[in-house]
Amino acid sequence: MQFFLMTWLLIGAQSFNHPPIITSEFQPEYFLNRFSSLALPCQAYSGNIKYYWYQNGQKVENQIHITANINSGYLMITNYTKDNFGMFYCVAENDYGASVSPFVKISGAVLDKFRNMRPMSMLSCEEHHHCKLDCFNKPRCEPPDACLVEWTHGFGTQNTVLEDEKTAIDLDGNLHLLNVSKDCGNKSYACGIWNEQTKEFVKGSSIQLFIEASKSGTSPRKIFHSNSRVHLGKHGVLQCIFSGTSMSEIKWKNKHGSSISTNNKYRTSQYGRILHVMNVTYEDEGNFTCVTENNLTQAPYLNVTSPPVFLDNGKSFLTTNFTVYSEEFVRLTCNAVSSPMENPPVVTHWMKNGNIFTSFRDISIQFLENNSVLKINRALDDKVGGFQCVTENSEGIAVVNFLINYVGDNRTLKGPFYLFYLTVLVFAIGVLILIAFGFFVRKRCYQKLMPLYLVIRRRSTTNHENDYDNIAIQ
Ligand SMILES: *[C@@H]1O[C@H](CO)[C@@H](O)[C@H](O)[C@H]1NC(C)=O
Ligand SMILES: *[C@@H]1O[C@H](CO)[C@@H](O)[C@H](O)[C@H]1NC(C)=O
Ligand SMILES: *[C@@H]1O[C@H](CO)[C@@H](O)[C@H](O)[C@H]1NC(C)=O
Ligand SMILES: *[C@@H]1O[C@H](CO)[C@@H](O)[C@H](O)[C@H]1NC(C)=O
Ligand SMILES: *[C@@H]1O[C@H](CO)[C@@H](O)[C@H](O)[C@H]1NC(C)=O
Ligand SMILES: *[C@@H]1O[C@H](CO)[C@@H](O)[C@H](O)[C@H]1NC(C)=O
Ligand SMILES: *[C@@H]1O[C@H](CO)[C@@H](O)[C@H](O)[C@H]1NC(C)=O
Ligand SMILES: *[C@@H]1O[C@H](CO)[C@@H](O)[C@H](O)[C@H]1NC(C)=O
Ligand SMILES: *[C@@H]1O[C@H](CO)[C@@H](O)[C@H](O)[C@H]1NC(C)=O
Repeated sequence: MQFFLMTWLLIGAQSFNHPPIITSEFQPEYFLNRFSSLALPCQAYSGNIKYYWYQNGQKVENQIHITANINSGYLMITNYTKDNFGMFYCVAENDYGASVSPFVKISGAVLDKFRNMRPMSMLSCEEHHHCKLDCFNKPRCEPPDACLVEWTHGFGTQNTVLEDEKTAIDLDGNLHLLNVSKDCGNKSYACGIWNEQTKEFVKGSSIQLFIEASKSGTSPRKIFHSNSRVHLGKHGVLQCIFSGTSMSEIKWKNKHGSSISTNNKYRTSQYGRILHVMNVTYEDEGNFTCVTENNLTQAPYLNVTSPPVFLDNGKSFLTTNFTVYSEEFVRLTCNAVSSPMENPPVVTHWMKNGNIFTSFRDISIQFLENNSVLKINRALDDKVGGFQCVTENSEGIAVVNFLINYVGDNRTLKGPFYLFYLTVLVFAIGVLILIAFGFFVRKRCYQKLMPLYLVIRRRSTTNHENDYDNIAIQ
């Protein structure tokens, strides 16, 4: 019995029985459209796993247009309706508990109509000056990556205005004729939006453009610079527009004032009006400068932001193992951070095996430091399990899984106690064998061993106590 117990203690301490470890990586948001269905695989390893998907906190029940496969982990959505939109996550469960996947927002790709459509409006510009045509009342278009502003002239949508040395469309969608010529006049212009995902195009109100003779001369001017926002690790786009056509070259400098040359990190396009910054880091945040040949300067700002990321791996999803000893309290810290200058993430909830903690009445559980720390003040009921923290900022949601393995008495594992306890155990076994087979031993001898038995008894857990008692009674 003692040999078995000791083996259990030592081997049990080394094997780690834990809830599944989720390996799926999702985009933070998916957009459904009329033509395609969505299949999201929740994947995890370790043990015999069952998968459950949740939509806005409710378990997904299989219906015609939305199904969640408990064995494969696939979530399938085949219809574009509001019922299928929401915040989703998957819970992967095995015999030891459950883990929670990253959160995924599912919404619809949309392209609305232009608002406040007016009859044709008039605009007149002076020849050889800068002429700006606003794209008013742009409709909602999602996802943003799939939306492209296009300008057309004339009737219908056939005659697309192409960008060239004299023509630019800014990142807000407005058209700039940088040195407008007579032949741009007496035409109607309209902006429209193309949604690559829904394959739809909508056209806005028309503007009739007249070109007047130039009354005064003009020289190149600053017209537009972007304030761009990009997520950490993604690809940032900055834009500068100057008027005039003599402006053949735009040079870019980083925030430290060093000239930028085209390489893996930077690329320019559209006559140098656009700068692409690859794999952005927080180092890239700041004012870039764009300079023309005649020293006109603008300073577009690149804002590098991010959903919460965990300090351990720099990502928004983390799985971490914990070994717990009976006499310790457990302290779990949800240490996610936002971008340096932004508000810290807010912990929205904690879960145990994928179930949200709803009752705060359990005095054995405390939420500390604005909910970023979960403290469990007594021995855990379950031997193993998963605790999850969900935290968010303006840019997204992050999830950490703490996989807990409860190994019992810490004295079998920690520091100098280890050898001491092992010695006591081995000694105890010897003594107990002596006692068990010691029918012939005299009472005096038994009394001699008695104090030692008490020492062992004090040092054992309740489980072992029974064993000692039983044997001692023999
Ligand atoms: C999608 O669902 C809506 C409402 O539930 C239904 O009217 C429509 O026919 C469905 N479309 C497809 C392609 O099944
Ligand atoms: C544009 O129209 C105005 C009057 O409608 C006319 O005077 C002018 O010559 C026209 N310009 C061109 C370039 O056709
Ligand atoms: C606009 O174009 C005209 C003719 O091509 C040129 O003479 C003039 O210098 C240009 N203006 C500017 C500001 O570039
Ligand atoms: C940017 O990231 C991509 C993919 O993450 C990688 O292949 C590429 O080498 C990175 N480029 C630079 C300049 O770090
Ligand atoms: C960036 O430029 C803007 C205006 O051009 C200025 O207000 C801002 O302080 C600058 N930011 C930094 C970090 O230099
Ligand atoms: C632009 O500035 C640089 C240095 O600041 C100077 O050498 C150059 O002559 C200037 N060019 C013009 C066109 O003013
Ligand atoms: C950058 O964007 C984030 C997220 O929208 C915002 O909270 C932050 O204030 C912005 N930073 C600057 C300097 O504009
Ligand atoms: C957690 O335990 C599993 C299985 O023992 C192991 O594969 C994984 O690397 C561990 N993870 C960490 C962060 O220790
Ligand atoms: C808790 O939040 C408040 C306000 O958001 C903040 O001032 C305080 O520093 C936070 N405390 C901790 C321990 O993070």
